[in-house]
Amino acid sequence: MTAGTGEGGRGWRAAAQDALYGPEGFYRGPGKGPVGHFRTSVHASPLFAGAVARLLCRVDEALGRPAVLDFVDMAAGRGELAAGVLSALPAGVAARTRVYAVELAGRPAGLDHRIEWRTGPPERITGLLFANEWLDNVPVDVAEVDAAGVPRLVLVREDGTERLGEPVGGAQAAWLARWWPLGSGEGEEGGEEVREGVGVGEGLRAEIGLPRDRAWAAAAGTLARGLAVAVDYAHTAAARPPFGTLTAFREGRETMPVPDGSCDITAHVALDACAAACPLPGARLLSQREALHALGLSGARPPLALASTDPTGYVRALARAGEAAELTAPGGLGDFGWLVQPSGIEDVLDGRRAPG
Ligand SMILES: C[S@@+](CC[C@H](N)C(=O)[O-])C[C@H]1O[C@@H](n2cnc3c(N)ncnc32)[C@H](O)[C@@H]1O
Repeated sequence: MTAGTGEGGRGWRAAAQDALYGPEGFYRGPGKGPVGHFRTSVHASPLFAGAVARLLCRVDEALGRPAVLDFVDMAAGRGELAAGVLSALPAGVAARTRVYAVELAGRPAGLDHRIEWRTGPPERITGLLFANEWLDNVPVDVAEVDAAGVPRLVLVREDGTERLGEPVGGAQAAWLARWWPLGSGEGEEGGEEVREGVGVGEGLRAEIGLPRDRAWAAAAGTLARGLAVAVDYAHTAAARPPFGTLTAFREGRETMPVPDGSCDITAHVALDACAAACPLPGARLLSQREALHALGLSGARPPLALASTDPTGYVRALARAGEAAELTAPGGLGDFGWLVQPSGIEDVLDGRRAPG
């Protein structure tokens, strides 16, 4: 914690909500949008949109090729994924597809007129809802264990200095106990006993993912039939980061989180909790590496023999392999989590299927 003295400050959730989405918020202004500050899989390579287009085609088949197929790019940034998927679809599928870009920022100039720009998802989706790096930007409160072993809300001032507030209570305390036990180990079988005056786990921190669970349940709940997918930096109960992951990005660099609208404020997502929050059965978590492999993307180098028979093709295949390797890299984008939530269709990301 950046130690602060005195009073003032509010919970990280309210502070980040204004800093990101208020009238002067980081995400509301004109300009390049997220791509000016960090690179997501969407910006890393058009192969990503191509893989999502193949996923949409599989959903289309599983749905029995409906007359109208929906594709929802949830938290669309500047609509780059929506546009990329539309241009990668076979013409016959594209002609039946309604593409929605759901985003709080305004519609960018020059976006394909076939893409409908909206601030919320349509009510009943038959198709694919895809949320790339949305949930990590849904603001959350932060808890930190004090010297007595009690998890308290972290309050932050506009300059980024923090202090501890009230003990975490109510639904937030219940969420911590179930998904990210801290300090006293309350709610945890075999949790450590707290003795008066003795701090247990002082300084441990957690991001309270409740608003993300609710946001995901609401978005996935718009699915009449099809698939909802959330892709993000993620962790699960087996390996929560002991001090949380709250951080910020500005112009390509990681920086101290300051809720003044000057930077992106983000924290990794407890995707297992999001999965459980959605009442639909059949949710599955896999890594981006597994998901993209199942969609036929591979970072394998092309055969060297191609270099002599088709040098141009070889160079193109090599560049493609490099981009695929970045999207699936261990320790990088390949470790992202994919939360896959089918509704009324089979598992179309089963790795045993033939890719394509
Ligand atoms: C990290 S960017 C990701 C952009 C894009 N999906 C990509 O992968 O490049 C997060 C985006 O989520 C948008 N966002 C956050 N909450 C939202 C909400 N409730 N509805 C729509 N967009 C939202 C932000 O405005 C921002 O553009």
